[in-house]
Amino acid sequence: MRNETLRLILLLLLCSHLHSVLSWKKEEFRTCHQTPFCKRARSRAPGSSSLIATDVTISHGDLTAKLTPKHDSQSETKPLLLTLSVYQRGILRLKIDEDPSLSPPKKRFEVPDVIVSEFPSTKLWLPKISSVENGLSSSVYLSDGHSAVLRHDPFELFIRDDSSGDRVISLNSHDLFDFEQLKHKSEDDNWEEQFRSHTDRRPYGPQSISFDVSFYGADFVYGIPERAASLALKPTRGPNVDESEPYRLFNLDVFEYIHDSPFGLYGSIPFMVSHGKARGSSGFFWLNAAEMQIDVLAPGWDAESGIALPSHRIDTFWMSEAGVVDAFFFIGPNPKDVLRQYTAVTGTPAMPQLFSIAYHQCRWNYRDEEDVEHVDSKFDELDIPYDVLWLDIEHTDGKRYFTWDRALFPHPEEMQRKLASKGRHMVTIVDPHIKRDENFHLHKEASQKGYYVKDASGNDFDGWCWPGSSSYPDTLNPEIRSWWADKFSYQSYEGSTPSLYIWNDMNEPSVFNGPEVTMPRDVTHYGGVEHRELHNAYGYYFHMATANGLLKRGEGNDRPFVLSRALFAGSQRYGAVWTGDNTADWDHLRVSIPMVLTLGLTGMSFSGADIGGFFGNPEPELLVRWYQLGAYYPFFRAHAHHDTKRREPWLFGERNTELIKDAIHVRYALLPYFYTLFREANTTGVPVVRPLWMEFPSDEATFSNDETFMVGSSILVQGIYTERAKHASVYLPGKQSWYDLRTGAVYKGGVTHKLEVTEESIPAFQRAGTIIARKDRFRRSSTQMANDPYTLVVALNSSQAAEGELYIDDGSSFNFLQGGYIHRRFIFSNGKLTSIDLAPASSSKGRYPSDAFIERIILLGHAPSSKNALIEPSNQKVDIELGPLWVLRARAPAVTTIRRPNVRVAEDWTITVI
Ligand SMILES: *[C@@H]1O[C@H](CO)[C@@H](O)[C@H](O)[C@H]1NC(C)=O
Ligand SMILES: *[C@@H]1O[C@H](CO)[C@@H](O)[C@H](O)[C@H]1NC(C)=O
Repeated sequence: MRNETLRLILLLLLCSHLHSVLSWKKEEFRTCHQTPFCKRARSRAPGSSSLIATDVTISHGDLTAKLTPKHDSQSETKPLLLTLSVYQRGILRLKIDEDPSLSPPKKRFEVPDVIVSEFPSTKLWLPKISSVENGLSSSVYLSDGHSAVLRHDPFELFIRDDSSGDRVISLNSHDLFDFEQLKHKSEDDNWEEQFRSHTDRRPYGPQSISFDVSFYGADFVYGIPERAASLALKPTRGPNVDESEPYRLFNLDVFEYIHDSPFGLYGSIPFMVSHGKARGSSGFFWLNAAEMQIDVLAPGWDAESGIALPSHRIDTFWMSEAGVVDAFFFIGPNPKDVLRQYTAVTGTPAMPQLFSIAYHQCRWNYRDEEDVEHVDSKFDELDIPYDVLWLDIEHTDGKRYFTWDRALFPHPEEMQRKLASKGRHMVTIVDPHIKRDENFHLHKEASQKGYYVKDASGNDFDGWCWPGSSSYPDTLNPEIRSWWADKFSYQSYEGSTPSLYIWNDMNEPSVFNGPEVTMPRDVTHYGGVEHRELHNAYGYYFHMATANGLLKRGEGNDRPFVLSRALFAGSQRYGAVWTGDNTADWDHLRVSIPMVLTLGLTGMSFSGADIGGFFGNPEPELLVRWYQLGAYYPFFRAHAHHDTKRREPWLFGERNTELIKDAIHVRYALLPYFYTLFREANTTGVPVVRPLWMEFPSDEATFSNDETFMVGSSILVQGIYTERAKHASVYLPGKQSWYDLRTGAVYKGGVTHKLEVTEESIPAFQRAGTIIARKDRFRRSSTQMANDPYTLVVALNSSQAAEGELYIDDGSSFNFLQGGYIHRRFIFSNGKLTSIDLAPASSSKGRYPSDAFIERIILLGHAPSSKNALIEPSNQKVDIELGPLWVLRARAPAVTTIRRPNVRVAEDWTITVI
């Protein structure tokens, strides 16, 4: 009887626990209505601001003007300063701030260290202003074919396409601009704000900014991560729209986030991209790290104004709690141009180490050294490659980062060396909350040096996180970043070795007992900056400091790998991110694609979702589907919550182990292709994984498709997002055909195919007219595959032609920046495959030396008449015969294959089919 009761109680406890786990605690977070600046801004009507531009002139190569109120009644309002600057590639920058010569109470915060140092030197020195419409507007040159126009009354800024006279993008066309200027507090002012049990003292009072931005020739807008929602942003206000929250940008640790919500998650990139059939793409970026709320307005939202809407225009409304206007406009017109323009400002993604784009095995937690050894050896036993084993918070001594629980991990160096001997790496977690323990050297040092963020009373801010009472280093300060970076040296981080890399979690920052589970807004940082002004970039500076630590540790010649949960514009320069604590269900599998695509569209190419879902236990079928999809994420890691059942690839029966292994094999085979794409992202900003419309910009059928995506320009992937799927409808864009990656079967482009689906794989296709490089021998890790031979898969199009690229370097150092790499273009036409050198002729370090050769060339779509191929310059003949499309797969279909051409990948050659 007592046992029964006990069991009942346990069951009840378990249920109540489960219940709390399975619900998003909505009431813990503010809505727009509960956020005074958002509520105020949203209630304003068009035509309410009426600022006029005066004193328009050229100064230091910029256009400058004053913005003054039209009506004298607003006598309190001082003129604002407006500056317009023009940069190469068609980039327009607008700054609006209070006039320092009128001595505002405080300097408003401008986010440092996001704009790359090269950018200012691309400024075009504006020679003159042209007067338009009889002096009612002023215009300046922006690029060949585009001007920037400033209308004076009321002020409005727009970019004009000079040939058509059409607008591209504009600001304040609806006269919603509002800028709350800082004031000296008078006795009657009560600036405090309450949310739940928290008081925000708001010592500087209201200081929000809001305005409208319109995109022309646009059918959809995209971007502004991070949230779990569709790729194309749905309207949040207007006729026929269920009044919803605006899209929120506020970095938060949202426990159990739901899969379809405008609510902001861990990161913020205030960058929006538009796309439409009429014009192509344009972009708008607001460099501001305070809380932001953005409405996408449905056509007719301003119906009262009686103005007929031009079609294909999308209006948006931007609101921020603090900061200045520092906004960038990008003219596109191709989607890839917008990425080039945006990353000219915020930087292209760092080139990752090769190992970090392979498969990562993680869980909270691998318990001890024995557990690590067991998991590691199981991969070997089953011939499943993997590159990185991860340790979560439990590996530390009481959540003191940079330490080890010596009972569980007595020999960390030896453990890492064992992994390294198989070419594998380890990642440990280092979070920003530092345990307030006088015996912890890091805390002692940080508190003595005054390196912590300060609370509103000027003491070290003390918040609750994993270790209990914690403080947070103020990494906005470059000196503190440098101090933090030094903590990653081998001397300082005991038990670390060169094969150890880092993971930054909880850096939104997460504060369990803070308002909305984060830091209070009236906490202060370096230079008197309020947390409200900086919030969305806190995690960015922490990520930066950590990446710099690994750079220092490696003496500048080992590329850092740091995974971060929080992110901001520019995070792409410091490492990878993941989509945080998702859930093991089909909806989360599905939403991972728009999330990863959105991050890529906003510069953050290196991202992925936790394979399997962090919370909960995936059914084996879901887990297998997740591996099959995740094998195409730029960042490919399995991870799981502490309370979930173990789910290493071999725990679901032999068949599922085979399926998971096969999915991982696909990724390893495609590593040369992925690595080439990472280099493309590194040089151009164009993401590894792309929405279809980035490759097919005039095909409307692709604009809101976020179930299908492109990996580079050559592979299309369709996830399977439902249980026991037997069929899938897949739209294959373009005029050319597509080859099934697995079977080589050919499908027509420009139509939706109803395909049969098996458990073996998700639909994936190679585009006709492309060549991709693979490595088909599997070893323990990517590192061990370095010298393995290549397979080229030539997918011919209707003109029996194809093209592709391959980039190779040492996979780890910075020698590639001095020319230490191989970059080839393969061209197949008129029956001849040619390898052309794309690397510049000379370089100080010399080419990356590789003896690797090409062991197999597969010709898809080739008329099967030829028997031989002639290799030049060696003048050798090799056979053409039928061979398997995938060597390691039983029942792989036979395809036309040039066997053993054995040409070197680093050399020039041609192979002619005869
Ligand atoms: C590529 O990545 C490296 C860091 O890995 C960075 O130093 C470089 O600026 C990036 N961009 C280019 C064009 O190489
Ligand atoms: C076939 O592919 C080649 C190489 O990518 C390309 O130049 C050519 O335009 C393509 N032909 C057709 C008809 O699309």
